[in-house]
Amino acid sequence: MADLNKNVKLVQRPVAMPTAACWALAEDPIPSPEAGQALVAIKHISLDPAQRAWMNEDCYVGCVALNSTMWAFAVGEVMNSLHPGFKTGDLVRGIMGVQQYSVMHGDDLELLDVKDEALSEHLGLYGMTGLTAYFGVTDLVDIKPGDQVLISTSAGAVGSIAAQIAKLKGAYVVGIAGGPEKVDFCVNEIGLDGCIDYKNHDFETRLAELMPDGVDIYFDNVGVPILDYVLKQINEEATIIICGAINQFQNMSDVSGPSQYLRIPERKASLLGFTYFHYSDRFHEGVKQLRDWIESGQIRSHEHPIDGLENFHDSFMKLFNGKHIGKLIINP
Ligand SMILES: NC(=O)c1ccc[n+]([C@@H]2O[C@H](COP(=O)([O-])OP(=O)(O)OC[C@H]3O[C@@H](n4cnc5c(N)ncnc54)[C@H](OP(=O)(O)O)[C@@H]3O)[C@@H](O)[C@H]2O)c1
Repeated sequence: MADLNKNVKLVQRPVAMPTAACWALAEDPIPSPEAGQALVAIKHISLDPAQRAWMNEDCYVGCVALNSTMWAFAVGEVMNSLHPGFKTGDLVRGIMGVQQYSVMHGDDLELLDVKDEALSEHLGLYGMTGLTAYFGVTDLVDIKPGDQVLISTSAGAVGSIAAQIAKLKGAYVVGIAGGPEKVDFCVNEIGLDGCIDYKNHDFETRLAELMPDGVDIYFDNVGVPILDYVLKQINEEATIIICGAINQFQNMSDVSGPSQYLRIPERKASLLGFTYFHYSDRFHEGVKQLRDWIESGQIRSHEHPIDGLENFHDSFMKLFNGKHIGKLIINP
């Protein structure tokens, strides 16, 4: 075990998109656990758009204090436990931060049941992004064969899983992604019926071409302006699920909503929202179902791992410049 704990601290709050100056790489002594705590060696760290919100001065789940370790979901192995619920060698998950080692109170750690899958899958498919996808497309809507389903960020962590679940329920599924490589992934790797390249196509024309029967369900991860373009083409009694709005992250204090929202009453449509945290009492159900679908080959999980905390800024920015496919992870 190394003597020092490499970690990434938040040293400056971003105004819009974070710059490299927002973070500093530091080396501190590895902390020792006290009663009730455990020392965890972190193996994989999740990169999530929500971390951008956690960098603000206020956020609905609190915020990262300046000059402290940047928050992140992570998975790792218990090295030393002074908590009765954990022992050395246990695999755990928690908001352990962007660092190599973390001392956590046992109440803030989750013991993982890792089967044949890689531990990192407990940040993606069996973690926040996979479970968000699962509950978003199985609990908020009842997708039926033939439903016309549109899903944004369909080459990303949440979108690629949500889209595959909608597909296995028999829907006609179209994705939205940036660039030909992602369109190819969505159609040829995860089997979607089509994909709009919103960076290179005229969005509204392409949507009408790929979904001539209109949109019954839109799973939105982006927000406006794409949300507005979609609202113009929703069907009667359509459902719009607001899962995220990555296009709004740079201006969280003045978020823009849809100017086309009157299409909702006109077409007796519904706008629903949720977060992963609303389903915390059902995570086991979600993991079990996702595992069954993986084992039967009905869905696939894709990861984009990057090594080295010195690459944190460049890696994090891939969430916003789109230079990744599937679940983005950094290995410390
Ligand atoms: N409700 C919840 O509890 C919950 C939980 C997890 C995540 N989310 C939300 O789910 C969404 C996806 O998160 P993720 O972790 O799965 O990330 P991800 O999809 O793996 O990565 C984000 C993707 O967003 C796309 N993107 C970035 N900026 C964009 C813009 N301005 N317009 C359109 N697309 C843009 C990029 O793909 P392209 O190359 O295709 O542009 C990028 O790859 C986010 O909105 C996130 O906040 C919600």
